Amino acid sequence: MIEDLQANPELLPDAIEEVLRYRTSIAGILRMTRTDTQIGTIAIKAGERVLLQLASANHDEAAFADPDRFDIRRTPNRHISFGHSIHFCLGAPLARMESRIALHAMLERPLTCNGVLMYPLHYHWVHLVYSRTRSTFPLPSLHKLHYI
Ligand code: HEM
Repeated sequence: MIEDLQANPELLPDAIEEVLRYRTSIAGILRMTRTDTQIGTIAIKAGERVLLQLASANHDEAAFADPDRFDIRRTPNRHISFGHSIHFCLGAPLARMESRIALHAMLERPLTCNGVLMYPLHYHWVHLVYSRTRSTFPLPSLHKLHYI
């Protein structure tokens, strides 16, 4: 995938969207219903709490073809990693722009350690209850790093 992106950097925005979908960082958010509601066969009374599983929705086979395949050319890619409707993430354009700038720089100047390429995907995930974050970023001491 890295080589593919280096050869076709115009794919970067779509690749970022696929990372957002595939590895939904905010896996679930809570809501409370205001009125009695029916979702499919489930009746939910007003005032009940509902956990919206964004990560699960982003892997819904009714919405995404072959949803468990990571595909940087996926179009359309209507994931809900930034939420939906009136609470849609205010920072989404900033997050997308920062990702493009950072990843573009990393693709142009790959970082190596003892000849091994280092990318931000090479870290250990820690799965919190409803979000994911990095537990470690295995960077060695600075003098061992080389830009190529
Ligand atoms: C990849 C990075 C990010 C992800 C995955 C993300 C995800 C989300 C999600 C799922 C929501 C909806 C929460 C809900 O419906 O209850 C949300 C809301 C929000 N996000 Fe983000 N976010 C990101 C980055 C940012 C950044 C960089 C900022 C600000 C600089 C930001 C500011 C906000 C704000 C203010 C809301 C509340 C919007 C509202 O309730 O009307 N987010 N975000």
